[in-house]
Amino acid sequence: MVEQVGIGVIGVGTIAEMNHLPGYQRQPDARIVAVADINQERAKAVAAKFGAPYAYADYHELLANPEVHAVSVCTPNFQHAPVSIDALQAGKHVLSEKPPALSTAEAQAVEAAAVTNSRVYMVCLNHRFRPEVQLLKRYVEAGEFGELYYAKTAMLRRRGSPGGWFAQKKLSGGGALIDIGVHMLDVTRYVLGNPRPAQVLGITRQKIGSYFLEEYRSYTPADMRGIGQRPENWAGDADELALAVIRMEPDITLYLEVSWALNLEKDVTSTEIFGTKAGARLEPFTIFTEEMGRLVDRSPRVQPIPYSETHARAIRHFLDCIHTGEQPLSDAKQAVVTMQILDAIYESSEKGTLIVLS
Ligand SMILES: NC(=O)c1ccc[n+]([C@@H]2O[C@H](COP(=O)([O-])OP(=O)(O)OC[C@H]3O[C@@H](n4cnc5c(N)ncnc54)[C@H](O)[C@@H]3O)[C@@H](O)[C@H]2O)c1
Repeated sequence: MVEQVGIGVIGVGTIAEMNHLPGYQRQPDARIVAVADINQERAKAVAAKFGAPYAYADYHELLANPEVHAVSVCTPNFQHAPVSIDALQAGKHVLSEKPPALSTAEAQAVEAAAVTNSRVYMVCLNHRFRPEVQLLKRYVEAGEFGELYYAKTAMLRRRGSPGGWFAQKKLSGGGALIDIGVHMLDVTRYVLGNPRPAQVLGITRQKIGSYFLEEYRSYTPADMRGIGQRPENWAGDADELALAVIRMEPDITLYLEVSWALNLEKDVTSTEIFGTKAGARLEPFTIFTEEMGRLVDRSPRVQPIPYSETHARAIRHFLDCIHTGEQPLSDAKQAVVTMQILDAIYESSEKGTLIVLS
């Protein structure tokens, strides 16, 4: 019989309540033991909703609970690395929400803590678990595309700044790039086999800033939910547009484009890869090639799944790694490389130069 894993969730705002806790609840080998949130009322309410016997205001108390074997870290970004390190040192396995850290140095400290304490550390890069992403990876591994030399990925929102702590660089590490760019960068590099980055040219901007929209949107952090009137400068000091050209080894160039606010017609989520024999697009899944002197578009059938289901699959993988001791798909080593690229994009934008990664 598979061992039951006692689960603690730290930071029970939007993503914990919507995706992590329901994701664990469905797993027969997971038992939700405790939650922690500095907002004690929220901690108690969420604990009651998901049947967790313990609700703490201080996450250190959750980490001291021996019934907790593994934690999800769902706090604002600036706490991902320190909370993950505390959890690893307390002997807990960690599923950290993205981004893994605010900098390469922090990600390296997390990696060291995961190695020293021999615990599973996984970043919740749930786009990897989309069935179309898994299928594209299989085609890449089968050599369908020949030499892959170019990829494009974008997540563009016309108006979709989350505001609140997400927009305060000190708390989030950055804006659209570190929030949604991290997903697109990761999923594209994952499909390509995580090629080593060599050079980075990045541009980040905030030009539109705070805007007023009568219709209410999603993406809002828990503390701002239901607030009709936004604070004066809710766009904060974070980037709302990020562009980057990333040259990877041996010779693959990735163009990344993300926005929280951009005056375009409609939102875009798109990833494309291009090789000498064929190319492909993820949304909707299509392969572009030539056969018998004809251009051919192939559309293997693959059913996209709801977003919450991608979290459930990431959680399933996390639990499997705890049982088997295998490295998770998105581990601490890869988190360091991801942070190197994000740091380089911000640095390149600030300095106006190409950054060469050693
Ligand atoms: N993988 C995804 O697709 C995805 C989607 C949304 C959010 N996220 C990530 O999840 C994280 C949380 O985002 P959210 O939208 O749920 O934010 P949120 O603001 O709604 O929730 C954060 C919660 O953390 C609590 N908190 C803050 N400091 C704490 C501390 N020291 N100890 C315990 N609790 C603390 C807050 O009170 C709040 O309840 C972010 O890092 C975000 O990037 C990931």
